[in-house]
Amino acid sequence: MSWSKAFVELDKTKHDRVSFDCGEEGLNTFLQTYAAKHMEVGVSRTMVLPASIPLPGGKYPLCAFYTITPSSISRETLPEQFAKKLPHYPVPVFLLAQLAVHSEYHSQSLGKVTLIKALEYLYEINAHLKAYAVVVDCLNDNAREFYLKYGFEVLCEYNGRVRMFTPMKTVEQLFK
Ligand SMILES: CC(C)(COP(=O)(O)OP(=O)(O)OC[C@H]1O[C@@H](n2cnc3c(N)ncnc32)[C@H](O)[C@@H]1OP(=O)(O)O)[C@@H](O)C(=O)NCCC(=O)NCCS
Repeated sequence: MSWSKAFVELDKTKHDRVSFDCGEEGLNTFLQTYAAKHMEVGVSRTMVLPASIPLPGGKYPLCAFYTITPSSISRETLPEQFAKKLPHYPVPVFLLAQLAVHSEYHSQSLGKVTLIKALEYLYEINAHLKAYAVVVDCLNDNAREFYLKYGFEVLCEYNGRVRMFTPMKTVEQLFK
């Protein structure tokens, strides 16, 4: 099955969350149980890439998703060359809180496409409300390798995960 042309906001009336399986239980559970709730209360936004053909019930299975939310980091967690220009109060960032591809579509460049689309979306938001960087908390070594490939740098340990970042200025260069 192929995926549709664009990422859209998760809509539980149209999208089949139950059939999503990226191979990581925590991420599946997030999409199936929490993503819509978190949007309803206004703490994050989840964008999904539906398949091009619906299931018999009429809902569309999901090929990939990402979740974003505003966040902040302390300047002390950044390398000196970045930190020295920043204020001493919390530094605003965009947190790319979740990103996953359905196992059926792994190794077909959809992870790369999903990351680029997430960064492009954050670039558009940044035109209106500035953030210093995009931050990701890596679930495991695979995720770290994936983000390293796209220029993310290790920031610190956070809640038992490796936190990585890329400056918004770098993201701007991609889409300008
Ligand atoms: C990580 C994940 C998003 C990658 O998606 P994918 O569609 O299989 O990746 P792509 O096909 O777009 O691969 C893009 C590049 O990343 C590399 N890559 C993909 N998965 C990788 C992994 N686990 N480790 C290291 N590199 C990886 C590929 O080799 C490819 O590089 P290339 O273009 O030089 O060949 C996907 O495996 C996934 O959803 N995993 C479970 C959830 C997860 O771990 N999410 C990470 C966020 S915490």
